Amino acid sequence: MGASVTAVEMLLVLTLIENLFFSCIGANSSGSCIMNEREALLKFKHDLVDPSNRLMSWIGEDCCTWKGVSCNNLTGHVIKLDLHISVPSSFTEGSWKFEQSRLGGEINHSLLNLRHLNYVDLSGNDFSSVEFPSFLFSLQKLKYLDLSSAQFSGKVPHHFGNLSYLQYLDLSWNYFTADNLHFLSSLSSLKYLDLSNVDLSGAANWLHSINMLPALVELRLSICHLSNIPSLPHINFTSLDVFDIQGNNLNSTIPLWLFNISNFKYLDLSENVFQGSISSQMGNYNYLSFLDLSENELEGEIPGTLRNLCSLIELNLADNKFRGDISGSFGSSSGCIQSNLKTLILESNNFSGSLPGNLGQFKHLEYLDLSSNSFQGPIPTFIGQLSNLKYLDIHNNSLDGVVSELHFSELTSLTYLIMDGNSLVFDVGSTWVPPFQLQTIELSSCKKNISDLKMSNAGISESIPAWFENISFSIQRIYLDYNNFDGPLIDFPSDVSVLDLSKNLLQGHIHKTVGDIMPEMRFFSLSNNHLNGSIPKSLCQINLYVIDLAHNNLSGYIPKSMGSLGRLVSLHLENNNLQGSIPTSLKRLHVWTLDLSGNALTGPIPSWIGENISSLRIIDVHSNMFGGEIPPELCVLEHSSLFWQFTAMAFSELEFDDIWELYPSYDVMDYDEHAAAYVKGRQLEYTKTIRFLFSIDLSGNNFVGEIPQELTLLTRLRNLNLSRNYLKGHIPSKLAT
Ligand SMILES: *[C@@H]1O[C@H](CO)[C@@H](O)[C@H](O)[C@H]1NC(C)=O
Ligand SMILES: *[C@@H]1O[C@H](CO)[C@@H](O)[C@H](O)[C@H]1NC(C)=O
Ligand SMILES: *[C@@H]1O[C@H](CO)[C@@H](O)[C@H](O)[C@H]1NC(C)=O
Ligand SMILES: *[C@@H]1O[C@H](CO)[C@@H](O)[C@H](O)[C@H]1NC(C)=O
Ligand SMILES: *[C@@H]1O[C@H](CO)[C@@H](O)[C@H](O)[C@H]1NC(C)=O
Ligand SMILES: *[C@@H]1O[C@H](CO)[C@@H](O)[C@H](O)[C@H]1NC(C)=O
Ligand SMILES: *[C@@H]1O[C@H](CO)[C@@H](O)[C@H](O)[C@H]1NC(C)=O
Ligand SMILES: *[C@@H]1O[C@H](CO)[C@@H](O)[C@H](O)[C@H]1NC(C)=O
Ligand SMILES: *[C@@H]1O[C@H](CO)[C@@H](O)[C@H](O)[C@H]1NC(C)=O
Ligand SMILES: *[C@@H]1O[C@H](CO)[C@@H](O)[C@H](O)[C@H]1NC(C)=O
Ligand SMILES: *[C@@H]1O[C@H](CO)[C@@H](O)[C@H](O)[C@H]1NC(C)=O
Ligand SMILES: *[C@@H]1O[C@H](CO)[C@@H](O)[C@H](O)[C@H]1NC(C)=O
Repeated sequence: MGASVTAVEMLLVLTLIENLFFSCIGANSSGSCIMNEREALLKFKHDLVDPSNRLMSWIGEDCCTWKGVSCNNLTGHVIKLDLHISVPSSFTEGSWKFEQSRLGGEINHSLLNLRHLNYVDLSGNDFSSVEFPSFLFSLQKLKYLDLSSAQFSGKVPHHFGNLSYLQYLDLSWNYFTADNLHFLSSLSSLKYLDLSNVDLSGAANWLHSINMLPALVELRLSICHLSNIPSLPHINFTSLDVFDIQGNNLNSTIPLWLFNISNFKYLDLSENVFQGSISSQMGNYNYLSFLDLSENELEGEIPGTLRNLCSLIELNLADNKFRGDISGSFGSSSGCIQSNLKTLILESNNFSGSLPGNLGQFKHLEYLDLSSNSFQGPIPTFIGQLSNLKYLDIHNNSLDGVVSELHFSELTSLTYLIMDGNSLVFDVGSTWVPPFQLQTIELSSCKKNISDLKMSNAGISESIPAWFENISFSIQRIYLDYNNFDGPLIDFPSDVSVLDLSKNLLQGHIHKTVGDIMPEMRFFSLSNNHLNGSIPKSLCQINLYVIDLAHNNLSGYIPKSMGSLGRLVSLHLENNNLQGSIPTSLKRLHVWTLDLSGNALTGPIPSWIGENISSLRIIDVHSNMFGGEIPPELCVLEHSSLFWQFTAMAFSELEFDDIWELYPSYDVMDYDEHAAAYVKGRQLEYTKTIRFLFSIDLSGNNFVGEIPQELTLLTRLRNLNLSRNYLKGHIPSKLAT
């Protein structure tokens, strides 16, 4: 006793000595950086290309304080180099900044002098110009190596096997291929392996190599071009928690050995060609919180044992061939699947039967997509109790019955609501009480926002509920097309960006202040109603992309101020009673479609239409009272290479980000543009193919004079109609066919 020194005291003394030592050589007690390691880092930095100056802090003596560098605080050695940059999750979000911030250039061998490095993360940078830095294989102490999304290419070097201490290896999202994974057999400490997007189509025995990794906890092999899962006599990696093999071509049944691993928390087998049915053993995964089997060819009924997945948070079975009733899994009071489930996606299968009333017990549910199945019967009122529900999509089923306020009574979190394509009857009284009156009250008092309200073709016949005017929450996209709403058009909330009320029975005029009231509006369609009055000028003061007022009884002039709609892509005013001439101001537009047909418009077709609106692909002015000669300038349209022009406009003048934001579902390129073109007497409806149409219809006017010979130059023209005018001379020979 007494004089003996304990191990702890000994360690303390050693630590003190060490600190003292490093203070002396570093001549700075706080800076513990080692000289030759600092120099190695500076050489490394020197050879990097760093466009946004991310390594700005790499100056001064103490390299341990440099951004991304960490030292052991006892020995002062650099042990960690973390220069990763996160890849943005979507194309637009921060992608420019990301590209600007990627490090590139050479990776200098000087890193070899950092002999104590055990952690290297270079992910997200751009090393497309360099050979794989094989000297990394000499950094024998590496435990953590992340080279994901760093633009490396070529074969995965076999020397990874030298890094026998590796616990974490991420090579995903480069351009690697591998003929085999034999090197894995030396990495017996490996816990995390991500080879996503490494082309393993040539690596026949990939699974046998992985089976040499008994410590493996997380295995990600998404999009590896794998086409089969070899069978295994015995499975070693039974500690696996996470298995992601999404996006391969696996076309077997779900391998049975998966059920020998009982710890799974995360299992993603989606986007393969897995066949057969789900084993009832799937219900044994006590810890499973994420299960994605979507986009396979799985079939049959789902096993009732799924009700025992007590830890499940997300379940996605979309896009398979499942059928039958779901009440065994979701309708049983003996199960516990309802305890944690937040996301349930059964979309695009052939599930049938009625919706289990028990779904009301799924209190945590936030996202429920049952669309495109064969569910029948009424919607149980349980739906109204799911107070965390944000997204509800039940469209395209055979649901029927009455939807009442009970269905919405507690849906205070609802953001998306899609119910069309059923035979639901909305219980609407003369003052439109249910179904949404209560929803409104509930939602207004909670100040929650609905971003999409989609009830197209829902068979609603009444006037538009007046409560829309006064709601205190935000709705951004409203699709109420294909209903039987009658009565006047009311004002909608000021945040609305998409308002589609087309194909209803609305009457009366469009409020003069419509543009002031809904300044965020981008897509505005009231086509196919019975609206009268004139086009409100206030529409011309907002950034509209699409105006569709076609097939109404609108009268008066086209407002001059329409020329200020610099972002307008599509203008449909056809089949109204508009009069007067085309205002000169419209020459400032960059529209793609201009349809003024079936009005009472007069005056000439201005020559600037061809010269200034080079983006035009469809001009339809048929059945008006336009006169004068056909301006040869119309033919300039062709010279401007229309498709290219539109692309150029979409990406520059319109600003790509804007379009993206404003058209989350109505992306301009996919906008369901419609135009009727009369081709040789047959009316063709062009919808999605509109990109390839180029059409001029001047028929049924009072045009006089010669048919301009320039029209023969319009080689891309798919449709030209000059009939029913007072034109004379030759039909240009090329068009005569
Ligand atoms: C010690 O290092 C710090 C930070 O690197 C520096 O600001 C300070 O001037 C140094 N002191 C001496 C005495 O070198
Ligand atoms: C080393 O430094 C880190 C961060 O500065 C600190 O969290 C850790 O406790 C320190 N370790 C020792 C042994 O001092
Ligand atoms: C590494 O840096 C040193 C010093 O800057 C330089 O001499 C050497 O050529 C570099 N090596 C490589 C492979 O870039
Ligand atoms: C990897 O190890 C092998 C022998 O096991 C050796 O020949 C080779 O030089 C090592 N590679 C590197 C880059 O250290
Ligand atoms: C893993 O299992 C295989 C049989 O599939 C066996 O040959 C091998 O020795 C095992 N490896 C380890 C590291 O346990
Ligand atoms: C799975 O477990 C069963 C029963 O424990 C065992 O007989 C079988 O060999 C195991 N299969 C694999 C591939 O490990
Ligand atoms: C499944 O893969 C086998 C080869 O493993 C192939 O012969 C068969 O055509 C594939 N079936 C489908 C549906 O892709
Ligand atoms: C879907 O299921 C319904 C009812 O079970 C059945 O009548 C129908 O034929 C099935 N449809 C398909 C495409 O399998
Ligand atoms: C409706 O569901 C069926 C069956 O899943 C599918 O084939 C069809 O494409 C769906 N239609 C729409 C409009 O979603
Ligand atoms: C609702 O939307 C408005 C305006 O878009 C926003 O200011 C508000 O924070 C949103 N409220 C909720 C609860 O999301
Ligand atoms: C909307 O609010 C205005 C002003 O507060 C009020 O006069 C009107 O009656 C309200 N409309 C509805 C449908 O509640
Ligand atoms: C517009 O329509 C409304 C409702 O149908 C009608 O009362 C009104 O007289 C019409 N106005 C004009 C100018 O035609």
